[in-house]
Order: sequence, then structure tokens, then C-alpha cells
Amino acid sequence: MKLTKEYWTERYNENNIPWDAGMITTPIKKYVDQLTDKDLKILIPGVGNGHELNYLYTNGFKNVYGLDISEEPIANFKRNNPDFPEDQLIVDDFFKHDSQYDLIIEQTFFCALNTELRPLYATKIHDLLKENGKLAGVLFSFPLTEQGPPFGGSVEEYQVLFSDNFLLKALAPCYNSIKPRENNELFIIFHKK
Ligand SMILES: C[S@@+](CC[C@H](N)C(=O)[O-])C[C@H]1O[C@@H](n2cnc3c(N)ncnc32)[C@H](O)[C@@H]1O
Repeated sequence: MKLTKEYWTERYNENNIPWDAGMITTPIKKYVDQLTDKDLKILIPGVGNGHELNYLYTNGFKNVYGLDISEEPIANFKRNNPDFPEDQLIVDDFFKHDSQYDLIIEQTFFCALNTELRPLYATKIHDLLKENGKLAGVLFSFPLTEQGPPFGGSVEEYQVLFSDNFLLKALAPCYNSIKPRENNELFIIFHKK
């Protein structure tokens, strides 16, 4: 099945969004809380309802951008966060987006893509990062099968996929996942080469 914009919009319209934790998840919160440079230009691709985006913004990171292929979650976010700058909310296909960031935050976006797009994701993230830019966040660690989304993966697969373009500074079991994702997540910090 091709995971189109229409597919995602329908999931939001049906409120069939089990990935939505309702608040920032603990691994991302912990990572964000130790960042000291509030001027970082940050992108969250496949931002969904944007709990992480809201957390960043309300904690002083003003140069933050949320991008989603579907208007639906972006409209939800606007409704819930009327003070957030509209021009920092982007409705677009990640693969067509063109800008440069210091930091890209990954959570349940990579796993939501058709798996043949994975090499393209790795190169697109590389292109979207400035020199010394980083990709940080979580990737799932359960066997990759035909079933999904979410689609799984492993340390070995991610090493193969990302090593050409990134220094894999962290790629390890996540100790502070939210309950439903316990033992199924890896925390990653990949530095652009
Ligand atoms: C599983 S949801 C995760 C949402 C959010 N990251 C979260 O943690 O709640 C995947 C999101 O990616 C978006 N998406 C899927 N393909 C996309 C693409 N090519 N470009 C941008 N967004 C996309 C979907 O609309 C959906 O909001």
C-alpha cells in the first residue's frame, strides 16, 4: 500500500492515531531539556499534532519548524497553539522540502514511510542539515516485516543505511521510552558528515 497524503489525512479524520502520545514523549523531552542553544533552527518532519513542537516553542526555542504532508494535524496544531508563528508550520512532502536546519528531530516519521524510501530519507536528512547539523530522536527496533506502519528495523539496518552520510554518535536501546514503546526503541544522535 502506498502511504499517501490521503491515507494520513483519513487516519487523522477517523481519529485513528495510536502513535499520538498526547504530550511530548520522555526520550525527546530529556534530549531537548539538555540543549542549551535556544537559537538552534530545528525541524520536526512528520510532526503530526506537534506535542514536541509545542514543548520546544514554549521552552524558548523560537526557531522551530513543523512539517507534515497532511493539512489535518497542522490545522489541529494551529487550533491548539494560536500563538505559534504560522510561517513555521509547513504543509509539504518532506522529500520536496528545501531548507537547512541545525537539528532535525525524528519520532515515528521514519517508521511511517514506505520502506523503499529509507535510502532517500537518509540522503534527504543529510541535505536538510547545515554543516555540523544533527539528526536526533528515536527509531523503532523490532523486526522489519511487510506489516506497517509502523515499520520496524534494527541497529544493523540503521548502521548500513546511515553510516555513509553520518557519524553515528548514539544508536542504542532507549532507556526512557514511553510505556507502549518500551524495549522497542533506539535513541539516535547522528552527526552530518
Ligand atoms: C505516525 S505519524 C507520527 C506523527 C508525529 N511524529 C508523532 O509522533 O505524533 C507520521 C506522520 O508523518 C506524516 N507524513 C507521512 N509521510 C510524509 C511525508 N512524505 N512528508 C511529510 N509528512 C509525512 C503523516 O501525515 C503523519 O502525521
